[in-house]
Amino acid sequence: MLNSFTKAGLLLALAFSTVSVAEDVITSDSYFYGDSPPVYPTPEGTGAGDWKSAYQKAKAFVAKLSDDEKVNLTAGVTSTTGCSGFIQAIDRLGFPGMCVSDAGDGLRGTDYVNGWASGISVGASWNTDLANDRGTYMGKEFRTKGVNMILGPVVGPLGRLALGGRNWEGFAADPYLSGILVSESVKGLQSQNVATSLKHFIGNEQETNRNPSTDSDGNTVQSVSSNIDDKTIHELYLWPFQDAVLAGATCVMCSYNRLNNSYACQNSKTLNGLLKTELGFQGYVVTDWGAQHGGIASANAGLDVVMPESTLWNSNLTTAIANGTMEASRLDDMITRLMATWYYLDQDTAFPNPGVGMPSSATAAHQAVIATSKEAKPVLLQAAIESHVLVKNTNNALPLKSPKLISVFGYDAYTPMEVNLVSSFSFDTDQTRSDLYQNGTQWVGGGSGANSPAYVDAPISAIQRRAYEDGSSVLWDFTSEDPAVDYTSDVCLVLINAYATEGYDREALSDTHSDAIVTNVADNCANTIVVIHNAGIRTVESWVDHANVTGIIYAHLPGQDTGRALVEILYGDSNPSGRLPYTVAKNESDYGSLLEPAEPEGIYEYFPQSDFSEGVYIDYRYFDKHDIEPQYAFGYGLSYTDFSYSNLKVSKSSSSFSSYPASASILPGGNPRLFDDLVTVTAKVKNTGSVSGQEVAQLYLGIPNGPVRQLRGFSKVEINAGKTTTVTFSLTRRDLSTWDVDAQEWLLQRGTYKIYVGRNSRDLPLEATLTI
Ligand SMILES: *[C@@H]1O[C@H](CO)[C@@H](O)[C@H](O)[C@H]1NC(C)=O
Ligand SMILES: *[C@@H]1O[C@H](CO)[C@@H](O)[C@H](O)[C@H]1NC(C)=O
Ligand SMILES: *[C@@H]1O[C@H](CO)[C@@H](O)[C@H](O)[C@H]1NC(C)=O
Ligand SMILES: *[C@@H]1O[C@H](CO)[C@@H](O)[C@H](O)[C@H]1NC(C)=O
Ligand SMILES: *[C@@H]1O[C@H](CO)[C@@H](O)[C@H](O)[C@H]1NC(C)=O
Ligand SMILES: *[C@@H]1O[C@H](CO)[C@@H](O)[C@H](O)[C@H]1NC(C)=O
Ligand SMILES: *[C@@H]1O[C@H](CO)[C@@H](O)[C@H](O)[C@H]1NC(C)=O
Repeated sequence: MLNSFTKAGLLLALAFSTVSVAEDVITSDSYFYGDSPPVYPTPEGTGAGDWKSAYQKAKAFVAKLSDDEKVNLTAGVTSTTGCSGFIQAIDRLGFPGMCVSDAGDGLRGTDYVNGWASGISVGASWNTDLANDRGTYMGKEFRTKGVNMILGPVVGPLGRLALGGRNWEGFAADPYLSGILVSESVKGLQSQNVATSLKHFIGNEQETNRNPSTDSDGNTVQSVSSNIDDKTIHELYLWPFQDAVLAGATCVMCSYNRLNNSYACQNSKTLNGLLKTELGFQGYVVTDWGAQHGGIASANAGLDVVMPESTLWNSNLTTAIANGTMEASRLDDMITRLMATWYYLDQDTAFPNPGVGMPSSATAAHQAVIATSKEAKPVLLQAAIESHVLVKNTNNALPLKSPKLISVFGYDAYTPMEVNLVSSFSFDTDQTRSDLYQNGTQWVGGGSGANSPAYVDAPISAIQRRAYEDGSSVLWDFTSEDPAVDYTSDVCLVLINAYATEGYDREALSDTHSDAIVTNVADNCANTIVVIHNAGIRTVESWVDHANVTGIIYAHLPGQDTGRALVEILYGDSNPSGRLPYTVAKNESDYGSLLEPAEPEGIYEYFPQSDFSEGVYIDYRYFDKHDIEPQYAFGYGLSYTDFSYSNLKVSKSSSSFSSYPASASILPGGNPRLFDDLVTVTAKVKNTGSVSGQEVAQLYLGIPNGPVRQLRGFSKVEINAGKTTTVTFSLTRRDLSTWDVDAQEWLLQRGTYKIYVGRNSRDLPLEATLTI
């Protein structure tokens, strides 16, 4: 199907047919030339959509710059602030520079900030308003600290590989859910005049070999190449980026990996082609830190700004213009795009001094710039609560009913021994894969997505507070693998985690130490409730069916209010409403080739290859295609009440069912006709239980010649006990279409579409067909 794959297959065959395999090891990049189609020149930003006045101001600004000043804006500099990156000031024009900083789950490297629920927790919430509010209040913090741009949100990785080390930074292993949540996040963050930098563009689905390395013989091993065909990139990986650009996202960060063997930060097909032409992106492209590998070639391929600094551009840019290898207009476009974002977000008026709240180190003299606020508290807590997904609740073990003795076990219940400006974002360095679990409660994963929150309310602290209020007793043992269980315990809580960090993929989806704690406690406690702080998928096959494991909660990474949120769920002050944003398999082998990262091997020893040959069939699309029964389906989650579904109605809301969208001027997000609503679906949902609760009604679409079903709508609604509500889903032209590789357009096929509505991807009581 793919040229490069066919070539790879052929060479592999040749390698095995010759005497010495070693001779066939590819040693030159030139082997791959042509695998990624050239798309030149870079489209200049035009001020399309609502960018017109920003472009006018940016152009006027750029017209006043000298060549040296222009060049200085194309890369970051080392600054005295603790910003992750810094664009230097041009004092004579009153431009104070720009501070950009990590990361998507809270501002990193500073004090007086909040630790927010991670991307995966927002994914688990399926709550668009909450995603927006979280963005708004997080944005306020970045702004207060003088950070012009947040290095987030993350929509790549999407979660192709179950063991991917950064899946928790993104929202969901589904482009539709990810797309809506990133779009709301961008709107919230940018409502505070803070720019967003969508990352990582694109195909950044593994940490293993994410950067070039040197092997033991001194040979360079290049970054892994994600080989993705055109249909798959459109229908899966580009989709959420498209939504974010449509929502006004100002910057896109190109990733460490290669695409079809061309580095993502110099890939003209993705930067000039997909992003700047097809999606009409008006902002700028910044490198991930250190991801620039080509000099002038990267500028011509569509890269605009290099971070944290460039060792390849600088005066070479003006030399290249003089000798004709680069157009002067390209340099102007690079910085016009950069400056346009500054004006687009009104950062030229009343924005705090860049980096004002970013100390260069914890011990350096600095002002206390306080970014936490009372107003943020309800949103922080709600995001933490909706991070929790209840997946097992035998005989209504939960909510707890006035327990007199609560026994708490597991290394995840207590506050970590150290939280300072350094410890909470340190990377592991002495291994190739991350630790499987981490001592101390895991409220966030590791790497640049972690920060130093105002406090961390550990589960045990919140449980103790509750015991104080209730007059109940608590016993605990955080260290034993086989703890002694008080015979009279009403409930045993076992808290474990599944750790993941940037820089490393995970080793396994479960670990024997944690599993042993659960099993040992359950063997001695008839009411054992397991809480997992999971930075990604966690399998549970060794104890899920243990008769004494009465409750299981995937808590994900709830942020600093983790303990308070857990207690609200356990005691029924909040009704659980989270739903899994990925599929939990019965056995990790069920993920097949979508379990592990690709490794350098065979003739590709120096050029590791990751062929996305499964196409769009990842996560539940893969399980559906291969008819594998999951442990817990995508979209699954229990409530303390029940919901029933009825009255499915499908109606066409447009008469424009042409095969291709009418042509129109490209706006940020692409052809605006793609977002026309074509079909409306409604259904009734009734709360049949005795307490009020939130249901996440989900719509899946069976598109002809595509996956069995794909999420194309969801609606989270609060329904009082006994009441019924109507949920409405709008299907846009893009929702109903497939990518037509020949036409290079979204194609609305003629045929019969299946529409399913229900509780999760495997529990869909309502079904209808739609003929187009
Ligand atoms: C990668 O190669 C495939 C197969 O030739 C092609 O469909 C796709 O557009 C290419 N993508 C990039 C980014 O080069
Ligand atoms: C460009 O940046 C360098 C390094 O910060 C600085 O020394 C130089 O003065 C700048 N050039 C101009 C024209 O501002
Ligand atoms: C110009 O580019 C070359 C590589 O092509 C690089 O070695 C050199 O450092 C660059 N010069 C500057 C001033 O960045
Ligand atoms: C033009 O200048 C650039 C930057 O210094 C350099 O990389 C390139 O090789 C030069 N090309 C020619 C034809 O002189
Ligand atoms: C956790 O702490 C225990 C001691 O209680 C120690 O034996 C173990 O190695 C630690 N595990 C990790 C992953 O740090
Ligand atoms: C469940 O717990 C009780 C102790 O309360 C124990 O006697 C029993 O053996 C346990 N059941 C299993 C299946 O381990
Ligand atoms: C999981 O799959 C592996 C490989 O197929 C198999 O060896 C193992 O027994 C399975 N585990 C369970 C609990 O079924």
